[in-house]
Amino acid sequence: MRKAHLELAHEYWRRHLQPDDTAIDATCGNGKDLAYLATLLPEGKIFALDIQLEALDAARKNAPNSIIFLHQCHSVLPEDPDLRLIVYNLGYLPGGNKAITTRTQTTLQSAKLGLERLKTGGALSFVCYPHEEGKREREVLLEWTKEAPVEAKHHVFGAHAPSFLWVIKSQT
Ligand SMILES: C[S@@+](CC[C@H](N)C(=O)[O-])C[C@H]1O[C@@H](n2cnc3c(N)ncnc32)[C@H](O)[C@@H]1O
Repeated sequence: MRKAHLELAHEYWRRHLQPDDTAIDATCGNGKDLAYLATLLPEGKIFALDIQLEALDAARKNAPNSIIFLHQCHSVLPEDPDLRLIVYNLGYLPGGNKAITTRTQTTLQSAKLGLERLKTGGALSFVCYPHEEGKREREVLLEWTKEAPVEAKHHVFGAHAPSFLWVIKSQT
């Protein structure tokens, strides 16, 4: 099935990144997004985070050795002077335990910390889903972008479809 929200997110990453940038995949899961991200950063650095060890183990199988896997919540993020992108594919693992999902409070906490960690001009990328918690995450993130020093674009694909939010850290 074609997933327009993910295709759009990947397109944004491709246009934004230079081959030697640093990026964080803050919701690594089974590593599909990570595998694409790795193709864009042949000379760069990638950190991949997830709270599920099984997901990280699955992702590791198809990933280049250089990727740094961190079994931790994304409310704590690594630091790197070349950090230009943090990506979030929110929600739960397709086919996995739906109770292990991203949560509004920690997602917002991570977004705020991520903004501090990014270089000016760096970006946060969010794919949000239309289940209960996902709708809350989207609303809270959109509210935050109105106050934070960022430029944001929100792409909606339908009332009950996933959406894509792209947030650039402005000059302060
Ligand atoms: C929609 S899936 C990610 C899909 C993944 N990007 C891929 O390409 O397969 C969301 C992932 O976020 C993880 N997750 C949930 N809460 C988290 C948190 N607080 N910190 C880091 N990862 C979290 C889940 O375990 C799940 O693997």
